[in-house]
Amino acid sequence: MSFMEKPWGGRFSEKTDEFVEEFTESVSFDRELAYEDIRQDIAHIKTLEKAGILTEEEAKKLMEALEDIKRDIEEGKFKWKRELEDVHMNIEAELTRRVGELGGKLHTGRSRNDQVTTDERLYLKGEIEEIVNLLRELRRSLLRTAEGSIDVILPAYTHLQRAQPIRLAHYFLSFREAFLKDTERFLDCYRRVDELPLGSGAVAGVDFPLDRHFTAELLGFNRLVRNSIYATADRDFIAEFLFCCALTGMHLSRLAEDLIVWSSEEFGYIDLPDKLCTGSSIMPQKKNPDILELIRGKTGRLYGNLISLLTILKGLPSAYNRDLQEDKEPLFDSVRTLKGSLVGMVKVIDGLRIREQSMYSGAGNFVLITDVANYLVQKGIPFRKAHHIAGSIVSYLIEKGKRLEELTIDELRNFSELFDEDVFELFKPEVVADRRKTYGGTSREEVLRILSVAKKEEGLL
Ligand code: ARG
Repeated sequence: MSFMEKPWGGRFSEKTDEFVEEFTESVSFDRELAYEDIRQDIAHIKTLEKAGILTEEEAKKLMEALEDIKRDIEEGKFKWKRELEDVHMNIEAELTRRVGELGGKLHTGRSRNDQVTTDERLYLKGEIEEIVNLLRELRRSLLRTAEGSIDVILPAYTHLQRAQPIRLAHYFLSFREAFLKDTERFLDCYRRVDELPLGSGAVAGVDFPLDRHFTAELLGFNRLVRNSIYATADRDFIAEFLFCCALTGMHLSRLAEDLIVWSSEEFGYIDLPDKLCTGSSIMPQKKNPDILELIRGKTGRLYGNLISLLTILKGLPSAYNRDLQEDKEPLFDSVRTLKGSLVGMVKVIDGLRIREQSMYSGAGNFVLITDVANYLVQKGIPFRKAHHIAGSIVSYLIEKGKRLEELTIDELRNFSELFDEDVFELFKPEVVADRRKTYGGTSREEVLRILSVAKKEEGLL
């Protein structure tokens, strides 16, 4: 291709350096936006027709050719050319090849600067919808698992040390809560993505009488971006989306970490189905939770993509700069990564086998000691003193190599005269869990209440 054939070739008298062509192209990745680009082209053509810039016949011819091009892309027949830089110029050049000079009218009143960000917003609206659907699936799967585990008791951990007994349902609901917040964040982000930049031109607006409201309606945008400089210069909506991905990734990663630890032989709290695990090429006994490790590991990318974009944006002079082309790979990568991780997590949660007995035996002994202290508080002892007494019981038991449940009433009375036989009730993890009846606590009745609220919220009741 000679420089004359580039869509911008007019003012050039030298062929583009090969390396520059390779270094500056984006079509190898931004072809992901091809369908959005064609949708936009068609809406733009209709807007040009409404403005009297294209005749009905011209518009029809252009739109038909674009539909053909779309079909070729779908069927993998379209020839993408690196020397045509990006998805936009590839499609426009092919259109012109097919319809002749008329193709040159398509880009009237438009710049790639408002074109590219329009494509991105269209793309992102679709992807946010998909992510929100996957998040709903994950929340529902957590909810189902929670329902099935209302009577499973395990120790909650703080500092990865056994802390207090909880209901397993309460644990799963904690992540459902986190993913609900993530969903809300994506939906809120969607509102800001849902604004049309097209009609902003290169930076200053457009000198043809384009009805931007009409274009917005055609493309299903709720509002227009209100300032042409902001419309073409900013990628804040992508940064915000990448943040939502990063935060969701963080939640997935923490859940993955718990499940990895729980599936270890040391914990033995859960089993993962064979079909979700992989083996070792050298150690025959291994069954590795790779899917969870990768969900945890891929969170690094989600963070990295956010930081990449924020860094790309921070020093840019207003308005469009070619640096902005670097927004796409982080965006596509986060979309792919997050969707994959969500699908993977649903499979894991649906396939978990819970080992109730090992969870239950982890929830006894010292895990119950907070309530022994609180028992004394109910008998009038100040909490700090009760805490101290209970602490001495722990150290006595460690020294004797005994468990809390083995204590006799006489031994207990050596620590405080206020202990009665009814203290033994507190040596049952489920009893201790059910004492936590405050709003949002782990008692059976409170967890059941939250379960039914959650089911209503998910449209399951
Ligand atoms: N491929 C470019 C991008 O992704 C399209 C916009 C190019 N605009 C320009 N004036 N060079 O940002």
